[in-house]
Amino acid sequence: MNILNTIDAWQNWRNAISHEKSVGIVPTMGALHDGHRSLITRCRRENDICVVSIFVNPTQFNDPNDLNNYPVTFDEDRNLCAAEGVDAIFMPQYADLYPDDYRYRVMENRDSQLLCGAHRPGHFDGMLSVVMKLFNLARPQRAYFGEKDWQQLQLVKGMVEAFFMPITIVPCPTVREADQLALSSRNRRLSNDHRQKAAKFPRLLATNAPTGDIIRLLEKDGFTVDYVEDFMGRRCAAITCGGVRLIDNLPSPERQE
Ligand code: PAF
Repeated sequence: MNILNTIDAWQNWRNAISHEKSVGIVPTMGALHDGHRSLITRCRRENDICVVSIFVNPTQFNDPNDLNNYPVTFDEDRNLCAAEGVDAIFMPQYADLYPDDYRYRVMENRDSQLLCGAHRPGHFDGMLSVVMKLFNLARPQRAYFGEKDWQQLQLVKGMVEAFFMPITIVPCPTVREADQLALSSRNRRLSNDHRQKAAKFPRLLATNAPTGDIIRLLEKDGFTVDYVEDFMGRRCAAITCGGVRLIDNLPSPERQE
């Protein structure tokens, strides 16, 4: 498995891949878990070459504390990728990926302003900008995204269509713990108590109660609620539990019938 830390090393490696081979990418910010593993397994199965990018992208963090506390677990990430048969890990530095210091960026003016976008100003522009860069560098045929980040997934699909990028975005189902909490890199920041309490989040979201009732019940349980809203066929929600922001989504009640 190749670990490529610079754009030059990456380009040399990428340019050596024959045009006949298909390339799939799993873009990540590291702290890999079984949710990422499921994306990698599918990418590996569907492409000749499977690439994972690991880059904690500062431009998509509106809260410096969240960025500073984002878990970094490179040794474990490398082991997981090696075990899954990943061909290359691309892990650039900020200065390499943003030679313009984020002067140029991708902006979306509608759906990125809703839900998480309303609570995290600039988040989706930063996310779309880095994904565009990664796609331009990796030139993949397919890219794999988890449905847990439903709004992100819709925005990436929209960008690919808007810019005529010849890339298939492959959505992959959310992977959950036994108690239904969606896997997330941020879960490792939960204390034991908060981890137990967090299991109420997916349970309440799964009730077919009106969104206002779910918000009230979550607040009664001590969570800080950013939103619970129906969006593009899913009931999406974001809360804070013990200082850790968690998001999740399930099919909207009307889609379940
Ligand atoms: O979902 C993530 O981990 C990130 O938003 C992504 C897609 C890797 C872009 O930084």
